[in-house]
Amino acid sequence: MRILLYLGKGGVGKTTTAAATALRCAQMGYRTLVVSTDIAHSLADSLDRPLKSEPTEITTNLFAQEINVLEELRKNWGALQGYMGKILLKQGMSKTVAEEMAIIPGMEEIFSLLHIFRYATTDEFDRVIVDAAPTGESMRLLAMPESFQWYVERFFGWGETAMRLTGGLLRRLMPEQDALAGLPKLVDDVKALQEVLSDPETTSYRVVINPEKMVIKEGARAVTYLSLFGCPVDAVVVNRILPGVRSDEETGRRAGEAAVAAPSNDLYLRQLQEHQARYLVEIERDFYPLPILYSSWRSEEVVGFAPLRSLADELYGVRDPGDVMFVGQAQEIEEEGNDFILKLPLPHIELDKIRLTKRGDELFISIGNFKREYLLPAVLAQRDASGAVFAGGILRIRFPCSIQ
Ligand SMILES: Nc1ncnc2c1ncn2[C@@H]1O[C@H](COP(=O)(O)OP(=O)(O)OP(=O)(O)O)[C@@H](O)[C@H]1O
Ligand SMILES: [Mg+2]
Repeated sequence: MRILLYLGKGGVGKTTTAAATALRCAQMGYRTLVVSTDIAHSLADSLDRPLKSEPTEITTNLFAQEINVLEELRKNWGALQGYMGKILLKQGMSKTVAEEMAIIPGMEEIFSLLHIFRYATTDEFDRVIVDAAPTGESMRLLAMPESFQWYVERFFGWGETAMRLTGGLLRRLMPEQDALAGLPKLVDDVKALQEVLSDPETTSYRVVINPEKMVIKEGARAVTYLSLFGCPVDAVVVNRILPGVRSDEETGRRAGEAAVAAPSNDLYLRQLQEHQARYLVEIERDFYPLPILYSSWRSEEVVGFAPLRSLADELYGVRDPGDVMFVGQAQEIEEEGNDFILKLPLPHIELDKIRLTKRGDELFISIGNFKREYLLPAVLAQRDASGAVFAGGILRIRFPCSIQ
């Protein structure tokens, strides 16, 4: 089975891309489920079919589902949330705040993914396409089952020692035994889910972006963190490319050169085209070595089977969307003693003096004419880079330990 997750900033086209991909997979004969884990669902609108919280077959081989996120949360977390809420209430918090605080950030997404994970343990579907909510917290929790366990333990003082130590207040509030009984299983389930979601043969993450500054940055950050947490990203989807801009080999554009293939006569539109053309060049550079899939800005909303199929044709051509499109890590952080080494694969470039400039969490790399902007994960943003070596297509940047 293959699980494809489409994520990215709000409004970039995640739902549209997920729906188009699912239609293509079903058309190719794969038994496919497309599922939305966003609280604010729009999958039904995109497919132009009513959907339920359980899989419904909407055309041959294609099932769709909008998970009832709050229901999943209530089922899995309700008792615990109530328990935690009571403790916080006793500490003087207002009821609404206490209930809100009793949810670990990213929890909703985790329960949705746990729900989907059930399909991974059966052979009900060949392909599961996930239209994910644009959250970062859930990735953090999922990436490291240890971190989930850590949260849970701190949260509930769960574990025998904790039980023994918790006197007074906690003991009096100790809930009905079964509220905590499910916790170890939950931790195990999250661990199993994490294994599936970090296995590149099963799961691929695809970051959806538009050719716009802020969207590209957020996409780059998503790739950085997904790579850091060992989630296999295998492609970037660039959606909403204006007509006439699509600048790749087909238009005769040379690599690294921005060009508008068919400039508009309208000044306003032409300027937008020129911006996008420049951003496409940046995207190719900053997301290297990930393959990039392109889809154009349609004059009408992409709603219903026919427009979605046409979008899939543009995105994938004759390719199977379920193929693993990239094998390996788009970037890696290695530990060497107390130092960290950031390993970035770069395209073939003339070997020249490497210049690194760091501003906050942004690292600007320039080697001769080659320039690349890289968003550092927090762990590296706190340190200064001491030098870099480029060999065998990989740039290795050293971040020495700042505390001696
Ligand atoms: N290539 C495109 N051309 C024209 N309209 C598009 C295109 N891609 C998406 N849209 C439209 O843009 C809107 C937002 O798209 P979509 O719902 O897929 O984004 P999203 O990333 O899932 O948003 P959210 O973060 O709110 O879930 C929808 O109305 C969709 O039909
Ligand atoms: Mg959406």
